[in-house]
Amino acid sequence: MKYCIITFGCQMNEADSDLMASLLGRAGWQACEAYEEADLVVLNTCSVRERPEHKVFSLLGEMRPWKQSHPGAVLAVSGCMAQRAAQEIVRRAPHVDIVMGTGAFHRVEEYFERAREGRRPVVALDMDEDPSAARARQPYVGAQHAVPLRAFVPVIRGCSNFCSYCIVPYVRGPEASRSPSEIRREVESLVARGTREVTLLGQNVLAYGRDLARVPQASACTFPQLLLDLSRIEGLWRIRFTTCHPRDVDPGVISAMAEIDKVCEHIHLPIQAGTDRLLREMNRGYTADRYLEVVGELRARVPGIAITTDIMVGFPGESEDDFEKSLRLYEKIRFDGAFMFAYSPRPGTKAAALDNQLPRSVRLERLARVIEMQNRITIEKNEAAVGEEVELLVDGPAARGEGLLAGRARNNKQVIFPALGSGFVKPAAGFTNPAPSPSLPGSLVTVRLTEAHLWGFSGELDAGELPEASKPAPLF
Ligand code: SAH
Ligand code: SF4
Ligand code: F3S
Repeated sequence: MKYCIITFGCQMNEADSDLMASLLGRAGWQACEAYEEADLVVLNTCSVRERPEHKVFSLLGEMRPWKQSHPGAVLAVSGCMAQRAAQEIVRRAPHVDIVMGTGAFHRVEEYFERAREGRRPVVALDMDEDPSAARARQPYVGAQHAVPLRAFVPVIRGCSNFCSYCIVPYVRGPEASRSPSEIRREVESLVARGTREVTLLGQNVLAYGRDLARVPQASACTFPQLLLDLSRIEGLWRIRFTTCHPRDVDPGVISAMAEIDKVCEHIHLPIQAGTDRLLREMNRGYTADRYLEVVGELRARVPGIAITTDIMVGFPGESEDDFEKSLRLYEKIRFDGAFMFAYSPRPGTKAAALDNQLPRSVRLERLARVIEMQNRITIEKNEAAVGEEVELLVDGPAARGEGLLAGRARNNKQVIFPALGSGFVKPAAGFTNPAPSPSLPGSLVTVRLTEAHLWGFSGELDAGELPEASKPAPLF
């Protein structure tokens, strides 16, 4: 049997799709690229803005003729939009066989069987309000396929923050942390099979462990403790995490970033808006001054740190003055990069009910302005870094530039560079023989940044003599 999973939305959704893929793989299913060839197609969806929801409906429309000519195939919609809009999906797309919410995707096979037996549509939306039940929904599955060099590991699911514009708490339920031992077991297993970098995932990773503290039999752990614990895994070189709520950056988090070598110098710290009034209306729990203070502390304690952010423009009632004040704050902070969005009203959220919604044209015009400002800053910051030497973890051949390799610096910026002569690369200081083969993915190398781009850098390896240590030899 063949399955095809099409994923929308954030890295958490990607991680859920991977989990579904491993479960199906373990049961003997084969993955395929084209939905037309699959016995089971899953659209794993996102509800965070209107646009990803539109995309799903138009893809469902596009799939209708295929579905009609393949009555045996099963079409499923999972994820945040399934949770939010199950009835609408069934009504607008009657050829959908399964709608499974954010707490149900791990039972995909069972629903497939039910749909095959003709009991359709199968609608499964159980999303327990009890976080301990939510934890139980997260089965540990060792990946079936080759593990990635850089892996993403969910550590906390859901969100209890209820920012006034955001659908996530409604569709993902309250914060639920995985147990520290289970996370450790998963990371150890990844590392044993070749993973060298992990990114710990959560809507707010800094909330990790808070809910565990409320469950008597669960082992207590905080996010900094989790970082320290994972950093002791031999063979793991780098640890990243995303996303962080600015309100929860405390001295413990900053010290962990400053003191644990494997923790990389990058933080994604969504600011959303730049005036206290807007931040209050958004229910963000910090002021512009507090945000500045956090940035100051991070930059002081973690040299070389890159700070990236999410910015939302056009929140209901955002005046031109609010917007310009926010721009001035972003100028002052000088983010290394930003994901920027125009506010999109989400049904059921507090902000969607406000009567001072801004016209789309205003929201889009402000979005264009903030993008222009941030792109200039990103380029300026990157240009200032040209000439520096940075440590890269080499991912493999670069998507842009034939014959070039691509890797990530510790601050998460992308660098592309030509391999030395015969394809050898020079290992980074302190690493004797990190490259499993001269074909290079998985090497740690030092490159000098030679040219700045919006997306990162071009760089070059030191062309000097190759040290003995760079001779390739098996890692394991
Ligand atoms: N948990 C993360 C955000 C996850 S959603 C955090 O709090 O940082 C990713 C981004 O989408 C948010 O940071 C926000 O900028 C944007 N976003 C969320 N809801 C939105 C909405 N209703 N309209 C437009 N953008 C939104
Ligand atoms: Fe949404 Fe706020 Fe939770 Fe982020 S912290 S997922 S923006 S409610
Ligand atoms: Fe979208 Fe759900 Fe992620 S709404 S951003 S897929 S948590």
